Amino acid sequence: MKIGIGNDHVALEYKLRLKEYIEEKYDIEVIDYGTSSTKRFDYPISAQRVSQAVINHEVDRGILICGTGVGMGIAANKYPGIRCVTCSEPYSAKLSREHNNSNVLSFGSRVVGIEVAKMIIDEWIQAEYEGGRHQKRLDMLESHNLSKL
Ligand code: RB5
Repeated sequence: MKIGIGNDHVALEYKLRLKEYIEEKYDIEVIDYGTSSTKRFDYPISAQRVSQAVINHEVDRGILICGTGVGMGIAANKYPGIRCVTCSEPYSAKLSREHNNSNVLSFGSRVVGIEVAKMIIDEWIQAEYEGGRHQKRLDMLESHNLSKL
């Protein structure tokens, strides 16, 4: 599996620690689309790079980290085909995979402690989409279906 990771200036150090955590624990290549500087870096840029990498199948999934995870989540969900979950605990991360087939995860380096972030990532990486009754709802989210609801 390949995961694209992105960050803004706030989350640089935090991103590096989590990238290392994922690569050491899993057989996953983590491709870095974020900034490697602590100079101000606008989160929509990282969100766009990672979202497009997911849409273009350069990577299977994406992780986005800023101060709160909120800006990243708002930005990522503007791209059709992206289902980004912004969360601060592992239960929602797991269920977002099983029920919502989330393909991007965002969270905040100023909100979530690094050990909780690892738990969130573990659940999100390991959980699988269940399909079945959930697929109809995901189909309803596709932009061409929204006007028909
Ligand atoms: C940067 O100050 C901050 O706005 C950003 O990291 C993020 O929290 C936005 O949602």
